[in-house]
Amino acid sequence: MSSLHERLVACAKDAAAHAYCPYSHFPVGAATYWAEGLLSGGCNVENVAYGPSVCAERNAIHHAVAKGMRVLTHVVVYTPTLEPTTPCGVCLQVIREFGPQAEIVCVCDGPAEQRGVLSEFLPYSFGPEVLGR
Ligand code: THU
Repeated sequence: MSSLHERLVACAKDAAAHAYCPYSHFPVGAATYWAEGLLSGGCNVENVAYGPSVCAERNAIHHAVAKGMRVLTHVVVYTPTLEPTTPCGVCLQVIREFGPQAEIVCVCDGPAEQRGVLSEFLPYSFGPEVLGR
């Protein structure tokens, strides 16, 4: 039986294969796991107007939120590159909203991986508790 990490990597790779990235030619796949039990994936979806483009991580997260998920525990990011790609600042802020303790693992086609918890990727972050949420 495959581990959660293996399932997340498989999901992220599958999502990356569906990336819509005709402008950057930089496919990204993300997989998220939620305390409520859902595993959800997403890819980057670009737009000719550039601004509407959305990263893989946010697509995976927002899909899960629409399914009722609220507690994000794991994020895997996959890029078909030789070095791992870490989430952009906007995606880290979105991970912060639902997964202040989330583990993030960035994997690629090379041996290197970048692994840590959200607070290592985004220290001194602004979170929902500031507004009493
Ligand atoms: N991108 C992601 O989807 N996630 C990341 O972690 C980094 C960047 C996308 C945005 C854009 O479609 C392409 O990669 C190039 O920046």
